[in-house]
Amino acid sequence: MSKVSIIILAAGQGSRMKSALPKVLHPIAGKALVQHVIDTAYQLNADKIIGVYGHGGDIVPKTINDDNVKWVIQEQQLGTGHAVDQAMPELEDSDIAVILYGDVPLIKKETLSELIQKAQKDFALLTVNLDDPTGYGRIVRNAEGKVERIVEHKDATEEEKLISEINTGILAVNAGELRNWLKRLDNSNAQGEYYLTDVIAMAVNDDMEVQTVNPENEEEVLGVNSRSQLAELEGFFQLSNAQKLMEQGVSVIDPTRLDIRGNVSVGKDVTLDINVILEGNVVIGDNVSIGANCVIKDTTIETGVVIQPMCHIEQAVIGADSKVGPFARVRPGTKLAEQTHVGNFVEIKNSNVAKGSKINHLSYIGDTDMGSGVNIGAGTITCNYDGANKFRTVIGDNAFIGSDTQLIAPVKVGDNATIGAGSTITKDTPDNELTLTRAKQTSIKGWQRPTKDKK
Ligand code: UD1
Ligand code: CA
Repeated sequence: MSKVSIIILAAGQGSRMKSALPKVLHPIAGKALVQHVIDTAYQLNADKIIGVYGHGGDIVPKTINDDNVKWVIQEQQLGTGHAVDQAMPELEDSDIAVILYGDVPLIKKETLSELIQKAQKDFALLTVNLDDPTGYGRIVRNAEGKVERIVEHKDATEEEKLISEINTGILAVNAGELRNWLKRLDNSNAQGEYYLTDVIAMAVNDDMEVQTVNPENEEEVLGVNSRSQLAELEGFFQLSNAQKLMEQGVSVIDPTRLDIRGNVSVGKDVTLDINVILEGNVVIGDNVSIGANCVIKDTTIETGVVIQPMCHIEQAVIGADSKVGPFARVRPGTKLAEQTHVGNFVEIKNSNVAKGSKINHLSYIGDTDMGSGVNIGAGTITCNYDGANKFRTVIGDNAFIGSDTQLIAPVKVGDNATIGAGSTITKDTPDNELTLTRAKQTSIKGWQRPTKDKK
């Protein structure tokens, strides 16, 4: 087997995007288009990955920032053949060159493997039949059905325009041969460009067989030229994500309303309601249910957890059989042990909450180590920040914190301690005792409300 070198063309401007950002850096599922292609190249165990950039300067190489990708510049966009030629010095004659496109992100490794297989001996070309082939290069075959050449739409005769088999642009072929053909390209065509597609006729002339491969789905070879095509491909991509999860035993309430922007691993009997967004690395155990409109990022959710609607959870661990939400915000560094409850309008940051503790309403818990069996009353706030430094709050096992309490960190609440509602706790409180800081309730006899002066 020859070594595989993958060339990714990404020099075009993408003017129809109407964007300051080079087209190939626009995201699908939160990841740059060209990064999708690079990741697929990795899956093929390519020996070399070469990116051809041009428009937008070195923003593309700098943003991708991957030492395993060799970037070459195409100063002027003189055509796809010229673009590939810029990369050829990086290739050895014995390599198989695979041409991919930074704006064709959904190409599958299975399809490319088949192409590479055929390219061990022949010229391998990825083609597809389209109901509307307008704009694409057409595959011209001879009487025996063998590929003879490609004609670009703008150069095609009326008869050739009727051909529905089109060039996807993706191909694989011996690099030494490709190098020689590229040297012989000229730009005497309708667009005055050096067409990569002209090498097909040269290959045929050199008695090389041109073999075609078709992708399983048309989406694989669709390019992004506009924001609406970007949204269309995002839709295809997300639908295939949802499909994969459903095959693994997840109930996705509406596959068109689930977004995965990263890697998700799921257990059995998981239910994902509508408009759930899973980002980064998300691990979900068995029997987890996630309600509508939740955003969950870089988080582990253990078995049996129920996340109610409208929760935002990031860099956290949610212990088995816990309940979170609705309307909870769980921020980075939070570890909830098993059977905890985090209710509505509760924010938790950088805190450990041990087994069975409950923070059910309207609270801020930050930089806190909370024992097990704790009950936090509504409106409790850990005051963790003095304007310059952050301090920790420690709450012992089975403590009961009355509503509307402020715990001024650094402070420690003892095991089984009770804090009266409305307290401002500035000093450590003892185990087992009731601590309260509010003044004794009094009533003033004969007191009258102030009245306004009559003019
Ligand atoms: C090309 C093919 C056409 C095929 C179509 C599939 C040629 C001559 N034609 O046409 O047969 O049906 O793709 O979409 O190859 N690029 C560069 N540098 C350049 C020119 C292009 O990097 O100088 C990159 C672009 O950024 C783009 C890709 O190559 O990602 C394709 O270029 P484009 O000009 O869009 O080719 P098409 O005219 O669509
Ligand atoms: Ca194009």
